[in-house]
Amino acid sequence: MNNFDFQNPTKIIFGKDEIAKISNEIPEGAKVLVLFGGGSIKKNGVYEQVSNALSNFEVIEFGGIPANPEYEVLLEALDIIKAENITFLLAVGGGSVIDGTKFLAAAANYKGDNPWDILANNIRTEEGKGMPFGTVLTLPATGSEMNSGAVVSRAETKEKRVLGGPGLFPKFSILDPQVVKSIPKRQIANGLADAFTHVLEQYMTYSVDAKLQDRFAEGIIQTLVEIAPTMLKDEFDYKASANFMWSCTMALNGLIQKGVPSDWAIHMIGHELTALYGIDHARTLAIITESHYTVNFDDKKEKLAQYAERVWNVSEGTLDEKAKAGIEKTTAFYQSLGIDTKLSDYTENFEGTAKEIAKRFTERGWKGIGEKGKVTPEMVEKIVEMSY
Ligand code: NZQ
Ligand code: ZN
Repeated sequence: MNNFDFQNPTKIIFGKDEIAKISNEIPEGAKVLVLFGGGSIKKNGVYEQVSNALSNFEVIEFGGIPANPEYEVLLEALDIIKAENITFLLAVGGGSVIDGTKFLAAAANYKGDNPWDILANNIRTEEGKGMPFGTVLTLPATGSEMNSGAVVSRAETKEKRVLGGPGLFPKFSILDPQVVKSIPKRQIANGLADAFTHVLEQYMTYSVDAKLQDRFAEGIIQTLVEIAPTMLKDEFDYKASANFMWSCTMALNGLIQKGVPSDWAIHMIGHELTALYGIDHARTLAIITESHYTVNFDDKKEKLAQYAERVWNVSEGTLDEKAKAGIEKTTAFYQSLGIDTKLSDYTENFEGTAKEIAKRFTERGWKGIGEKGKVTPEMVEKIVEMSY
């Protein structure tokens, strides 16, 4: 096992009807900016619960943060934070609203001239440097409610870039599984696929004999696989939704990646597909995974075989055969969620995509990504081409 530090300061308040507890968590006298998305919270009762809980605070609202939070929209919210002397941010939404709020938490205290530099130049927000914020999660998927990373998109340049740092953990996150009731099935499928891939990114590397981390990772994947059919049924199931929500949070709150190598190439490539074509984040991952594991088969086959055995009960065959079965089972899982796994299923204009992404990676100096830093822009080009 590798050496590691682990600190996750986010307080989780989990369960039925817990949204009312927000008021205990926000500092007295705070001036709060409540941030939300396109309006789902006004239809499912979440907005009302949040408003009631905030009745003793001075509150301003900012709605309309789109999926894949858009930089230009966030700048409007930044103006409000400054003009109104906001002291606390409350994100009510999925990964997009929470990520947008993290960007604002970083940008509100940023001393430079251009907030885009936080993303373009990878400027981390250190502990105590971000504006404090909390979240009410409405869509289990990204894990953003308990981590310190965020992804922001910019339509003008067709870019999607990440930011983060220890100063960007939420102070608290409220996880009430009842919010799952109103989520469209397409987004449920996205959430399952995203969380599933988060675990893979931190597991499908090479062994460092970190037995507990491996079992945590396999446990989260097994739970997602077990609940997926129930989650995709029309009726709402509280028990499955609770397991879904907690699995998504645990998949990316830092715990399973401590002491082990992590990959993240699928995400890095996938973000480009969202930036170029607007494809849902989770679906971009489903497009890239199989080709990434195929191109990097030799480096990953031990872990792939272990995963095939332990998660998918593949007991027959050589190590290589089991590893290949692991890849096939992964693609089949995405497809079982109704998610297409080829780029051509999403756009007719895919020619040239591989070259464009490889070019962007070269320009950014991303010469070698993945757990060993071995995946060059040329290999990225091959991976994307195989995903057409
Ligand atoms: O905007 P509203 O009207 O709220 O509708 C949203 C949105 O259209 C809707 N929705 C959310 N909760 C709902 C609901 N509809 C009905 N009932 C509810 N309870 O769902 C749609 C998608 O929401 P969004 O927040 O975009 O989805 P998700 O949570 O999947 O977030 C995706 C974003 O997170 C980033 C992605 O790149 C993408 O930009 N990620 C963030 C990560 C992180 N911070 O750690 C890691 C991830 O790998 C990912 O990159
Ligand atoms: Zn993701």
